[in-house]
Amino acid sequence: MQEAEKIWMNGELVDWADAKVHVLSHGLHYGTTVFEGIRSYAADKGTAVFRLDDHLKRLERSSAMYHMPMPYSQQELRTAVHAVISSNGLAGCYIRPIVMRGYGTMGLFPLEAPVDVAIAAWEWGAYLGEDGLRDGIRAKISSWRRIGSTTIPATAKAGGQYLNSILAKIETHKAGYQEAILLNEAGYVADGSGENLFLVRDGVLITPPVQASILEGITRASIITLAQDEGIPVLEREVARGELYTADEVFITGTAAEVCPINEVDEHPLGPPGPITQLLQSRFFAATEGRDPRSEEWLDYIVAPASTLSP
Ligand SMILES: Cc1ncc(COP(=O)(O)O)c(C=O)c1O
Repeated sequence: MQEAEKIWMNGELVDWADAKVHVLSHGLHYGTTVFEGIRSYAADKGTAVFRLDDHLKRLERSSAMYHMPMPYSQQELRTAVHAVISSNGLAGCYIRPIVMRGYGTMGLFPLEAPVDVAIAAWEWGAYLGEDGLRDGIRAKISSWRRIGSTTIPATAKAGGQYLNSILAKIETHKAGYQEAILLNEAGYVADGSGENLFLVRDGVLITPPVQASILEGITRASIITLAQDEGIPVLEREVARGELYTADEVFITGTAAEVCPINEVDEHPLGPPGPITQLLQSRFFAATEGRDPRSEEWLDYIVAPASTLSP
């Protein structure tokens, strides 16, 4: 990974190499962590974080789900994100806040372990490659089912639940595909390993609902809004596997993957990125770069220039 200089840990900026946790930290053993993935972009009026407040709200909800009292207010976390970006002199970057059960107790009862918070940021280009964003990627349905909400709440973004995505990602990577699509316990389409999924049929944009064990993606919500702005009908409904094979267009959305077309599912070619995918992708990038009517609502500009903040 592309290292930066400073990481914010429990209220202070520390050197990248010193941002460490104890090997007996609770979160390391049991996955008792919640986190966010956020991006900032080099926008027209400076560096801007995309939908920062929405990401911080989701972080708060994820930590509440696991009874992890968040030691910092939303405003303090927002200031910390700004400080991490500024002190590292970053513009377009990926931001990773994590709230974790730390060192102090072992065993499955976590409520006496301390809660630690860290925020890191570094440069991270297109998650599925620039080629992928332009031409689309090949995806495969994994044999692993997406965790159901009677097992682990899919709507919280918790460390432990990503073992499910990781199994799917490894399986499909070994089979020669760039991304995994997971079905839920009922056999309907849920998510990619780290993305939400959309398909287009006869001009209608369709995406699985929250009840399908998806993570409620912030990129997904943005795409729904942009589609509505464009007058494209949007349906949140269960999606059967076979619909992907004959869809007019399929794409995935996520903070890391952004808006990425899919040009093949299993052995079914879908062709190059279609018009609705291209339109929504270009509006999404315009929004992240300050060139869209939605930008003002979604961008949080970094106020202090890097040079005025002490590290
Ligand atoms: C399983 C899963 N679905 C969807 C998403 C997309 O969410 P967002 O757009 O908020 O990054 C992610 C990424 O965090 C994810 O891990």
